[in-house]
Formats: sequence, C-alpha cells, structure tokens
Amino acid sequence: MICRLATIPDPKEMEINMLKRTQYCGELRPSHAGQTVTLCGWINTYREQGKGLFFVDLRDKEGLAQVVFGIESSAAALIDSARGLRREDVIGVRGTVRIRTGGANPKLASGEVELVAEEIEIFNKAEAPPILPDEHDADKINEETRLKYRYIDLRRPRMQSILKTRSRITKFTRDYFAQHRFLEIETPLLIKSTPEGARDFVVPSRLHPGQWYALPQSPQLFKQILMVAGCDRYLQICRCLRDEDPRADRQAEFSQIDLEMSFVERSDIMDMMSGFVAGLWTELFSYDVGTLPRITWIDAMEKYGIDRPDTRFDLFIQDVSDLAAKCDFGVFQQALAKRSPTGKSGVVKCLKIPGGAEKLTRKITDGYSEWVKTFRAGGVPVVKYTAAGFESGIAKFIGPIAEELKARLGLEVGDAVLFAADSWDIATKTMGELRLRIANDLKLIPEGKWNFLWVIDFPMFEWDDEGKRWVALHHPFTSPNPDQFGILESDPGACLSAGYDLVLNGSEIAGGSIRMHRMDVQQRVFNLIGLTNEEAQAKFGFLLSALRHGAPPHGGIAFGLDRLVMHVVGTDNIRDVIAFPKTQSGGDLMIEAPSPISDDQLRELSVKSTVTPA
Ligand code: AMO
Repeated sequence: MICRLATIPDPKEMEINMLKRTQYCGELRPSHAGQTVTLCGWINTYREQGKGLFFVDLRDKEGLAQVVFGIESSAAALIDSARGLRREDVIGVRGTVRIRTGGANPKLASGEVELVAEEIEIFNKAEAPPILPDEHDADKINEETRLKYRYIDLRRPRMQSILKTRSRITKFTRDYFAQHRFLEIETPLLIKSTPEGARDFVVPSRLHPGQWYALPQSPQLFKQILMVAGCDRYLQICRCLRDEDPRADRQAEFSQIDLEMSFVERSDIMDMMSGFVAGLWTELFSYDVGTLPRITWIDAMEKYGIDRPDTRFDLFIQDVSDLAAKCDFGVFQQALAKRSPTGKSGVVKCLKIPGGAEKLTRKITDGYSEWVKTFRAGGVPVVKYTAAGFESGIAKFIGPIAEELKARLGLEVGDAVLFAADSWDIATKTMGELRLRIANDLKLIPEGKWNFLWVIDFPMFEWDDEGKRWVALHHPFTSPNPDQFGILESDPGACLSAGYDLVLNGSEIAGGSIRMHRMDVQQRVFNLIGLTNEEAQAKFGFLLSALRHGAPPHGGIAFGLDRLVMHVVGTDNIRDVIAFPKTQSGGDLMIEAPSPISDDQLRELSVKSTVTPA
C-alpha cells in the first residue's frame, strides 16, 4: 500500500503519479460496491469515531461521499495522514466501495455506500477557511464576504447547481438555434460610443491619443449589419456593459442571448422565440408553457398599470373617470382637470380588492398613501363596501355613484376599492405598483406558475419633458408598425412600434423589434428624435451606409440570460446567477476592481488624472 503525502511535489512526477479521479463523489451508488475507485475533492467534514475509525465527507461538484479510514487493514501512515486532514484540504483517495455498515444516510445521494480508503494523496492543505461552503450557513454570511471569497462560496452545492443550470440553458440555446440554422458570430468589444439608453463604459486608445472606445451596451448595430452582410440568422451569447446603477435584477456587466433574423415580420420572430421558451421549459421542468399570450402595450398599462404585467393573480385596474366626474370630490375633480404635456387628460383609476375591507386595515392603507408619494401621487383614497354600504372618509363623496360603482366593479360585501386620481402617467404607475404591493402583502401570488406574455404595439416614442423632444421608447432602430408610417411625423405620440417584449411572471426577460431596413425611414426617425442629418451621419454613418447597400427586412431580440436563469433557479438576486458578479456599487470584491492605475499608464494613454482615488 502506498501512502503519499504532499511535500513540494515535482510537477513531472505529479503528472505521472497523481491519483486520477474515476468517479465523482456525489455519484457513488450501491452499483459501485466492490469496485476500486478514486475520488478527488475537498474535505467537507471529518470526524474520529473511536476504535481508530476516521470518517471524512469528501465534496466535489456533484456532491458528497463518505470515506472511511482505519479499517483493520489500513496502514498506520494512512490513518495518520487522514487524522491531519482539515476542512477544505484537497485530496485524492483510492479505495473500495462498500455498502455502509452503519446504515444509509438518506440525506446524501451517495448515502447508501462509503469508500474504504486504501491510498490517499494530499494535493493541498488549506488555511483555516474564512467562510465555509455549507448550505445552511449561506444566509448567515454577509454577501460581501461571500463575494470576496467567491472561490469558496462557489463550492456550495446551491452555487454549483446554479452554475450547472446556467450551462444547461446556454447549451440548450446553442442547440435550439443551431437546429434553426442560426450562426454563432462574435462582435467586437471595443466599439464606438453611441447612445442606446444607458451610459457607456469607455476605454482610452493608446494609439490614438485623446480618442476613446466604448464597451458595447449590446451588439445591436453589429447584428443588424450582419443581416446586411447576408448572414440571415445570427446568435451570440454576449456580454453587455452599461454604466448604470446595479439593482436586484440589474448588473453593469450582464449577458444576453442575442439574436437577429432576416426576411421576417414581427410574428416570425415571436414564434421562433416562443418555440425556444417552450423547448427550454420542457427540457428543464417537463412543463408545457402552452401558447404564449399577447397583449398590447396600452391594454397592459390600462389593466395592469405596467408594461411587464404579472398575470399570475387576478387583480385588474379599472378606469372610472366617467363615474368620478359625477362626484363632488376635489381630489377627483382636480385630477380630471389635469393635462399632460402631450395633451392627455387626467384620470381616476381604481383597484377592487376582494375581501379587502377587513384585510386592508386603516394602518395598511395609510401606509400605502405615504408610499405612493414616491411615484409623485398624492395618496390612495379608499372605500370599503360593507353590509351597511360604503364606509371610509371619502364614502360620502361616492354616494352619487354608489350603485354604478357597485355594478361596474361587481362589488360584494367585504370588498375594498382603492383609487388613484392624477395625470394618466402617475395614476397608471400608482395603480400598477399598488397592485403588485397588495398581491405581495396579501400573498395572492401562487407558487409554481410560469406566466409568459408577449407585450406588443408599444408607442414608438415618449415625450421627454426636460429635453422637450421625443425619445425612442425601445431604441432608435426600431421600426414603426407597417400600418403606422403615415402618422410618423404627423402624430409621433400615437405612432406604434414593431417592438415586442417577453415577460415572465412580471419581469422583462427579453426585448426586441423589427428594425428599419430602409435608410430614408431610419433617417426620418433620427430626425424625429432631434438628430439632424449631419449628426445622424456623424454618429451612425456606418449604419446608414449599410442600409444604402442592400439591407434585407430584419428584426431580432435579446434575452437577458441572467434574468432567465434567476427565474429558472428561483432567486431574486441577480448576483446568485453570475459566477463573479459586481456589488451594488459596481465593485468586484475578490479582485478589488476598480482600482487606481499608475501615472505611467495614464501618461501612456494620454489621460490626465483629475481625481485622487479615495
Ligand atoms: P434591452 O436593452 O431591452 O434590448 O435588453 C434586452 C434584455 O436584456 C436584459 N437586461 C439586463 N439584464 C441584467 N442587467 C441589466 N442591466 C440589463 N439590461 C437589460 C433584460 C432585457 O429584456 N439590443 C436590444 C435588443 C434588441 O432590440 O434586439 C437590447 O439590448 O432581460
């Protein structure tokens, strides 16, 4: 029997002699009993059990296996080296698999068997670990420490499982789109700064002093140009970089499943992507997503108060402006008299909450009234419908419309009605946010539902009151719907785009559009968002030139890969699904980035430092 302890090994010798894994720890099963196998991994636990018996739980990416040292035949040196093992030491161990003598451990997939060690190789001793990769400890460790020691944190079974799921999703993606004859094509990372919504990360050019590259917010224009280049169907699982503040479902550096197709209309792309989602959900969950429903943007806003509706629960917003107009209630009257900069009238909207009369106490609804001020709303007037009629401070104003309101909303005794009275934008947002908040507070969102929904017919533009101009709602390469070209200039506010978003359980997981493939139309849209022909030429000359040289009709979409994985694995923290994520303030705590660079580097880049880093 050999017993090798790692003194500083000769690398050549290691290559020839090191113990090589024959099985993953988590995959040992009774069918291996009697076989000689080698496991390699990290010490998860070790315990001495008297009578010279020593147990180790060894961990690798597939799980744990119990290894026992100290069976009669074991050499003293083997037991000694096992006794010296500590958490997170890295070893290889060869031995014979046997059915456990002390009874199975139902908590482990390999729990019916154990490995009786005959040979051990200690590849590396570990220092006392600053955090332990134990699942039950994960919530107790603060996230910053987990991110600093990410190499230990990622050893946790949950993190390993997320990495595997993510890899499974990208493999499925590549297979699905390859079957549909998409080409995987890489696009550059050092590009030109072009406005696409967020702020660019920029990189100074050493060879062109004073000039800068931008890192791509998405490969948008390259994928369009690939269509002009005749590639027909493009796929890339790409990194996107946007210098914006991270949120629970947003990172400055994130990944997209990015696609573009030629000679297509909106429904061709949506059908292709619905097929992708249906296939993925079958693969992952054996779940039939059915036909993905479609809703227009305006219906989504009116019914759900948001452009990414969560349709897992039945609370619907209703516009009762016509009824409110009959009430002698100042809040309603003032709201109805409002006019937005684009001429939209104010509104009164409401939400019926079945059973809300009792569940939504005064304290709760007062809390809502305070909270909605963050959306610039004045408050949330409430009425409760009880056996004695309408109750609450504003009940008296409802008197004239009591019967009509009851009939319109189908009120039953015990229901509550919450109102938002304001400009259309504020009332819609308030109702949309309140709908979600109440669903959470009253636990109305069922578990285990996957509600996909396409949102279509977005407005082409929204009015930017600060800049006093129209801005593209998706991005300025999105085409108007084919029947909307006529009103592009005459009524931009009413013009609908050929954009579409895919929403899953209230989160936007993908967005895309049919693009403008004709140079003159693209130019018209640039003009509408305030770019002169000269400015458009300076910023997007390459695109306009490409559109003049034979551009096919085309369109595409991008899935937020991280968000997709978040749904699949059931987390609301985007950092859980990224191997090396950034913190809320955009830092990488493991490698300590961002960091200052030397004056020499700055000089070489012709960049002058104006701040001393904190
Ligand atoms: P868009 O900007 O809508 O479209 O992005 C597409 C999808 O990417 C995800 N996403 C993000 N995920 C994590 N962190 C972020 N900061 C972040 N920003 C966006 C979302 C979103 O639906 N070029 C266009 C696509 C196209 O038109 O084809 C684009 O990037 O899930």
